[in-house]
Amino acid sequence: MTYATLPAKISLSLLFLIVVFAGVPHTRAQSVAIDREVEQFQAFFLERFFSVSLDEFNEGAYSLPQSAPQAATFRFLEQLPPYMHALIPARSEWNRTYNGITLKNCMSQHPPANQFPYVLDNRVISIEMAILSCLELQDRSFAGSDSMELTALTAVFREQARGTANQINLNDEKLKTLYRKGYRVFWARQGQYNYSCASCHVQNAGNTLAGELISPALGHTVAFPVYSQTRASQTGNGWVTLHEQYRRCMSRMGAVAPPLGDRRLLALEVFQTMNDVSVPLKAPQSRP
Ligand code: HEC
Repeated sequence: MTYATLPAKISLSLLFLIVVFAGVPHTRAQSVAIDREVEQFQAFFLERFFSVSLDEFNEGAYSLPQSAPQAATFRFLEQLPPYMHALIPARSEWNRTYNGITLKNCMSQHPPANQFPYVLDNRVISIEMAILSCLELQDRSFAGSDSMELTALTAVFREQARGTANQINLNDEKLKTLYRKGYRVFWARQGQYNYSCASCHVQNAGNTLAGELISPALGHTVAFPVYSQTRASQTGNGWVTLHEQYRRCMSRMGAVAPPLGDRRLLALEVFQTMNDVSVPLKAPQSRP
């Protein structure tokens, strides 16, 4: 064998390996792949923003060193958060009895907020879905999944798990399927401007777009719901759910956003929550 033929041999064996691995059964490859993908996803941000630890990726764009001036105002505001007037009544609602049941009791049948979405009776459920079914037992129902009351109640449930590490079952088949679907929504280019979520929240995290610092995708789920002061002053309802935020960003991309309740939004939530594994919850939070 001459040295000249060696590279050719190496590339041939590489080709062979690729062909062999491409044939690995889909499901087995999938479970190995998700752990690795999550690890690589987190590593990308930890390397790029090396002064920020995994625990600190829980304040959206304010997690980044680039945000220093705005972050100072944000932290000051968080001492007396602008959402308190909307949160306090929801806290008392949590303990009020309707139809013989309190939300506190009903929701204690579920795992704490850092373990959602999870699978119950073969169905992936979000916190909003769990609260809605408790409200039904209480013989109460609110207008929709974006109603002010429901989001405030979600905030009450989420704040109870503040500081606990986000956990999600990476091995559950139902969650894995949604992760895959969410993965495609996240990475696919769509809309008039041909952006993907990653174009902004991975490639351009830490850069500024029209005066706004773009948040890293890592940690997106742990801050929600957020309370936007601009929105509060415009509509009287400052609460923004994660799914509403997804819809806002899709419109920003010039894409048609799926309606609230659509599977694609839940899939994105599962995909992003899996990527946020181990990041401590810090919800709710205020936004401009
Ligand atoms: C053109 C750039 C752009 C694209 C594409 C984009 N976003 Fe955003 N997104 C923003 C900006 C700007 C904000 C507001 C500043 C911030 O917090 O990042 C934002 C905010 C968010 C937030 C709230 C962060 C927080 O803590 O308040 C989430 C979650 C989010 N985007 C998810 C997504 C998802 C999922 C997609 C794809 C469906 C997407 N974005 C596509 C620019 C974009």
